[in-house]
Parts: sequence; structure tokens; C-alpha cells
Amino acid sequence: MTVRTVGIDAMAFHGPAHYLDMADLAVARGVDPAKYIEGLGQTAMAVPTPCEDTVSLAIAAGDKALARFEIDPSEIGMLAVGTETGVDHSKPVATYVHEHLGLATNCRSVETKHACLGGSAGLTAAMDWIATGRARGRKALVIAADIARYGLHTPGEPTQGAGAIALVVSESPRLLEYNPDIYGDYTRQVMDFWRPLYSRYAFTDGHYSIACYLEALAGAWADAASKPNAARQVPIAGLDACFYHVPFVKMAKKAHRRHWEAEFGRTLSMDDAALLEQVAASFAERVSPWLELNATVGNIYTGSLFLALMDYLRKVEEDREGRTVSVFAYGSGCGASLLFARVARGAATHGHRLDPRQDLSLRRRLDVTEYEAIMRASESADANNGQALDPSTWRLGAGVYYLGTQEHMRQYGQYDR
Ligand code: HMG
Repeated sequence: MTVRTVGIDAMAFHGPAHYLDMADLAVARGVDPAKYIEGLGQTAMAVPTPCEDTVSLAIAAGDKALARFEIDPSEIGMLAVGTETGVDHSKPVATYVHEHLGLATNCRSVETKHACLGGSAGLTAAMDWIATGRARGRKALVIAADIARYGLHTPGEPTQGAGAIALVVSESPRLLEYNPDIYGDYTRQVMDFWRPLYSRYAFTDGHYSIACYLEALAGAWADAASKPNAARQVPIAGLDACFYHVPFVKMAKKAHRRHWEAEFGRTLSMDDAALLEQVAASFAERVSPWLELNATVGNIYTGSLFLALMDYLRKVEEDREGRTVSVFAYGSGCGASLLFARVARGAATHGHRLDPRQDLSLRRRLDVTEYEAIMRASESADANNGQALDPSTWRLGAGVYYLGTQEHMRQYGQYDR
């Protein structure tokens, strides 16, 4: 028995306990703060300590999603953790999450990877699992979790961040219903961004990566537009909001312009003043109001698209229920997907459960010396039989944390201050 309605039933964000203000970083690097704040659109970035790894972030986000939307762990029949910063070449992050959330042994658990597309890949796999009827009424938990690190003094440094978004997927979604028929895919082998097995830090050809992202958006749009009945779904004028992968906030602005250009069938130049004005107004209406969280968290790689979506859903009022949105995911390397979804009836009543601002307000602001010390300490955090890691060193609150690697096995434990 196939299921037609599938979508997001619950959602939660968890990020590191510390952040760095972009103006502080700019001053330390001898850069005009306006470059980071206006040029990239970032005001702050999350900084994870050695005890906050992809596993601990994923566990906390999953825990919040289940608790805040009153979902019992026994209702989850599939767990997919999308990440490009996994902690083991073989063992998936999902197994640790599965244990800590107390999920059933007959819950399918996997890790999905394709750079920043990994979370969306997990989401589509989960939706397909439900749509084919295999879920037999159970829900899927999809967690997009990552630590974005380029290293000190690199061009990518102001586009770092970390965090996890947990999504519960079900056949009776309370937040967002995906359209199963209209979607676009795109894949091409490019070297725009990568992280070799031996490196903790990502390498990127930054400006080329922006070009690859925009080309992938046009490619995924063309594929979506070729589907039967796409004309009713795809045009931007009919969309209430457009969500894009957000490595830094300005990227969403570039993406929205390319989205319109795909629809116009040509690139715009300075001579197209009226159309450029239309694109700018559309950005102000459909994209920029939902980038508040991304601006203060930074790039969380595969979760950053969903952070923008969450910003929208937490602000949704009743008049937006039933409206359509587009959801574009990009993963370097590269792959992309463009999906369409409708705000579920009753979604507005759940906004208060989604709001992460209370958690974000508890974050501690680092100075640049502390930030650099954390970055250096993180480099040796995975050494075998190294020093046991103590969450109190980093002034962390209660939670499950990474405590170091002993006998080649990662140790995790509950820390109560
Ligand atoms: P950069 O060369 O340091 O910066 O690198 P820039 O010179 O391009 O300047 C950035 C913007 O600031 C420009 O705006 C400047 O004009 C402006 P734009 O022209 O693009 O609109 N600017 C100023 N504005 C106001 N006042 C000033 C000022 N100075 C300059 N004084 C770059 C920037 C993003 C390339 C770099 O940080 C980087 O390499 N980041 C990492 C790569 C990345 O984020 N790529 C994004 C696309 S690929 C992707 O999204 C996938 C990814 O998430 C990974 C995955 O899939 O896993 C990265």
C-alpha cells in the first residue's frame, strides 16, 4: 500500500555552547568587519569544543525533536544521520544516536553522505521508505549534523559553524508536506570542496564552489521543470518562500537570483534594471526573512538548509498554511536536489516548539584567543589513549558529550554539571 502524504512532523536544532562574533574575528584578521557582516551576511559563528562532536550534536537535536513534539522513541522505525563529518570510516554516527535515544532494535539505522546534500539524501530515503508502505505506520528520524571547519587564517574561516537539525518524517506531518511528483536532481563530478581522509579541515576552491553551486541550482531546476504538471508548482510567483543551502547568508541571495534566471531562461545584466528590482523584492519577501538563525550559527553544512526552513516554520502564521515552498539542497563534489512542499494545516500552532532562540541566547561569546585555543585542542581530541576530555574544561552545560578515545573506541557519557 503506497502512502501519498509524507513530510516533516517535528523538528529541532542543537548547536554548540559557544560562538565567535564576526566583528571580533575580522579585527583579529585585519579585515574590515563589513566584509564578513555585509559581504558574507554573517554576524556570528558557532564554535564546537572538543567534547561537542557530530555524535553529541546529533543526539541532543534528536532528543529535543522527540521531546518537544511528544514522540515516543518506539514510534521511530528508521534513523538516518546525514553528515560529512562522521567520526569513523565504518561505524555510522547513527549507531551512537540510536543507543542514546533508546530506539528499537528493529529500527533501520544508516549514515548518509554527499557533502552538504547528506541530510537531504537521508530525508528523501526516509520519505521513500514511508511512501512505499514499508514503514507500516512508523516514523523516521533524520538528523543532519556537521562541524564545518576550514582552519585558522584560511579564506573559509569566516564561513565555519556547527550544529545539528533533527527532522521527524511521517505520513501525517504536522509541519510540512512534500510534493512526491515534482522534484529535480543534479550530479556532476567537480573539485570545488573536499576533505581528504587524512585531513580534519576542508579544502575548497571558494569562488569556483560558488559557481558550481549556482550551476547545480540551474540544473536541478531544469530537471524539476521538466516533470509533468511542473508548470503549476515550479514558478517562483506561486511560492511563499524559497529555501537554499546556506553556507553563508549572502549565498542564498546569489541562489535566489540564479533561481529567477533559470526561470527567465537567461542571465541578467546591469541593463535589466526592472528585472533586477523584481528579483531584489522577491528576495526580501521569500528568502531573507528566514535567514536569521543562519546568520548567527554559520555554516552547519548539511543542516544549514533546514535551519532556514526552521526559521520560517517557527514564524509561520495561519494564513501561510497550505502555501507552497521550494527547498534546494547543494552538496559539493557535487550534487543537488530541488523539492517542493506545502505548509501543513495546523503548522502555525507548533511554532513555539521550534523556536531555538532561548537556547541560542545561552551561548557564551568567545574571544579570539579562546576560539583559537579550542581549534587547537580539537586537533588532538581524537588521539587514541590521549587525555580524557572533561566537559567542565569548556564550561559546558548538562548533556551527552564525547569524552575521548580509549583503546581505539570513542567514549561518550552523560555529564551533569
Ligand atoms: P573571499 O575571497 O575571502 O571573499 O572568500 P570575497 O572577496 O569573495 O568577498 C566576499 C563578499 O564580501 C563579496 O560579496 C565582496 O564584494 C564582499 P559578493 O561580491 O560575492 O556579493 N566584500 C565586502 N562587503 C562589504 N564591505 C567590505 C567588503 N569586502 C568584500 N569591506 C568565500 C569568500 C565564500 C569564497 C570563502 O569564505 C570560502 O572559500 N568559503 C568556503 C566555501 C563556500 O562556502 N562555498 C559556498 C558554495 S559551495 C557550498 O555551499 C558547499 C559547502 O557548504 C560544502 C559542502 O557541500 O559540504 C561549502
